[in-house]
Amino acid sequence: MEIKNVSVIGGGTMGNGIAHVFAMKGFHVNLVETSEQLFTRSFTTISQNLDRQVKKASMTENDKNTILARINKVILVENIPPNSDLIIEAIFENKEAKQSIFNKLDKIIKPDSIFASNTSSISITELAASYRPDRFIGMHFMNPVPVMKLIEIIRGYSTSDATFITIKELSQKLDKIPVEVFDYPGFISNRILLPMINEAIFVLMEGVASKEDIDTVMKLGMNHPMGPLTLADFIGLDVCLAIMDVLYNGYNDSKYRPCPLLKKMVAANKLGRKTGEGFYKY
Ligand code: NAI
Repeated sequence: MEIKNVSVIGGGTMGNGIAHVFAMKGFHVNLVETSEQLFTRSFTTISQNLDRQVKKASMTENDKNTILARINKVILVENIPPNSDLIIEAIFENKEAKQSIFNKLDKIIKPDSIFASNTSSISITELAASYRPDRFIGMHFMNPVPVMKLIEIIRGYSTSDATFITIKELSQKLDKIPVEVFDYPGFISNRILLPMINEAIFVLMEGVASKEDIDTVMKLGMNHPMGPLTLADFIGLDVCLAIMDVLYNGYNDSKYRPCPLLKKMVAANKLGRKTGEGFYKY
């Protein structure tokens, strides 16, 4: 199946990046938000990000306008054109909210189109259970989407080979590198990354070293571009805790228990960059 018409639901951090990349590669994108104001915020972010590419001379002002013209405003999922070949859902990380969207879409969108979710931790099999499970898949883009090459493609229990191949080839058309992942908690990326961050928080809690030194060891010793505590602040400590909970509950294995210091900081609303303070002050 050839994907021509794409709808992206949610124009936040991830959704605006996803719409940006598709429009840049020549696709017509319906960008769906819940209000005019939120759509404008999302569209303005895309325009500003494209401006940076114009400044770096990697595209012209004309190219930018052509790309923006491919993005179609849609307010509320009920108004998505039924002929969308692919729906990519990128609303906040909540299973019930995501299911409610797919439930509505299943009644509106033509039956042969593919449903994808950009969830970073919710089971694709569970999301897909009631809605076209053979044509349901995870497309886990990385942040910032226009810059990062990877897409984890998550196959739910019933995702068909045809759906997987379509999405793999589409990812390549976007100049991304797709990796096939079977649906287990945390997929690959978060199953490996989050326990490392969680362990760094244990090291801090136990007084083994200062936060700066923990980050320095991982930067200079392991060549990581960013230390784990700085990265946790960037991701958001609430998001880190939510993913640790998914791993802990999903595997029923104590090795994934979230660090008490992480829980305490989330309770104190020290969530990282977004609240102005996490392990560091911003
Ligand atoms: P965000 O909070 O920045 O954006 C969510 C957007 O969805 C908001 O603009 C909101 O207005 C919109 N929205 C909510 N309900 C809607 C509805 N019914 N219809 C249309 N739009 C609606 O969230 P973010 O960070 O972009 O995350 C989105 C998804 O991507 C989550 O599932 C998250 O786990 C996943 N993800 C996030 C990454 C990150 O670094 N932020 C990385 C990879 C995946």
